[in-house]
Amino acid sequence: MIDTNVNRRQDSNVKWSVAKNDDQLLPMTVADMDIATPQFIREAMQSVLDQKVLGYTMPSTAFYDAIIRWQKKYHDVSLKRDQLIIVPSIAVGLSFVIRHLTQVNDGIIVMSPYYPPYRRLVVDNQRQFIEFPLIQREGQYVIDLERLDKVMAEGQAKAIIVCNPHNPGGCVWTTAELQRIQDIAYAHHVLVLADEIHDDVAFSDNIPVSMMSDLMGDEASEQTILLKSATKAFNLAGVKCAYLAVKNPKLLAILKQAAEAEAIEEVNTLGLVATRTAYEQGEQWLTEVNAYLEENRNLAYEYLREEVPLIRPMYPEGTYLMWLDFMAYGLTDAELDAKLRTLGHLCLNPGIDYGQTGSGFMRLNFAVDREVLKDALHRLKTFDKAISNK
Ligand SMILES: Cc1ncc(COP(=O)(O)O)c(C=O)c1O
Repeated sequence: MIDTNVNRRQDSNVKWSVAKNDDQLLPMTVADMDIATPQFIREAMQSVLDQKVLGYTMPSTAFYDAIIRWQKKYHDVSLKRDQLIIVPSIAVGLSFVIRHLTQVNDGIIVMSPYYPPYRRLVVDNQRQFIEFPLIQREGQYVIDLERLDKVMAEGQAKAIIVCNPHNPGGCVWTTAELQRIQDIAYAHHVLVLADEIHDDVAFSDNIPVSMMSDLMGDEASEQTILLKSATKAFNLAGVKCAYLAVKNPKLLAILKQAAEAEAIEEVNTLGLVATRTAYEQGEQWLTEVNAYLEENRNLAYEYLREEVPLIRPMYPEGTYLMWLDFMAYGLTDAELDAKLRTLGHLCLNPGIDYGQTGSGFMRLNFAVDREVLKDALHRLKTFDKAISNK
């Protein structure tokens, strides 16, 4: 049973902290869910606490088996235990991979708009951030693959981050697109850093394909580093447990040695338990939550198109994130954010934070109770009316 009746207002979480001094403000931002982390996971964590000692632990065979089974069953990724490296989070894992598999000044291609920390993870590690704007076709993002080929041919890029499903656009890249990216990357010796953290939030009309799936073939797998965790789908961002999958023996050896040197695999006991339990027991819960999110998505998409046509939503094929185009209002990014707060009492993630391509957009997180979502949608309508009357 999923539980959408949560109150996070008093908790010190990132999302609700903006509303600390403003009771009226509704945040629909940070990519976690206002849906309870499943009870069976909380119980498994509690049973660790009930043992009374939180001493050193190590990942169990059952932990690895749970990941291997899940990735094979849901994503057609065949893995062996020694191809996995545990890390505290995707952000930490990405930084780790960038530092050990590329050199200072190497280029990393990032499609924009992009998950904001990507820039910091590239630039603060002294790599070149090669921003690769997505283009819009019929209101949805597509990848300009011919241009990607040209950018890679320039030789500066040593890796590309492929976020699938895409945050913030909600796009699920097609198998043909993914295969083409792999082919181009292969031709130009570019590593594929596949951030698939959102791929368990899947809707009935679009199932994401993994860059490391058996379907993509051996060459693709050998040049891919998969970054994954159970944290988005099972609402576990705070437990700090993620993993890398690496099939290429050379890259694996480099990363394994670096993992030793940095003791990076020493993650939180509760994170290990939560991840294992999610993958062992979470199938039914996830089916329910995805169905709930899919209805939320449909409701929000249809409502906006009918009731607030000046706001143009991208259709989220995956993720619980909706990317909204506000350009018709002719506001600057700062004005848009301010007016949504003052006129709609609504806080969304400003698109400009996701790179220049995100200017004029806002991101709405719809992983909330349906009544809260309806409230947020009404607030968008209130904003629209108030602006239009001026
Ligand atoms: C695409 C993407 N990658 C990575 C992360 C962060 O993952 P972690 O908390 O494991 O660093 C997020 C969180 O929103 C995300 O959307």
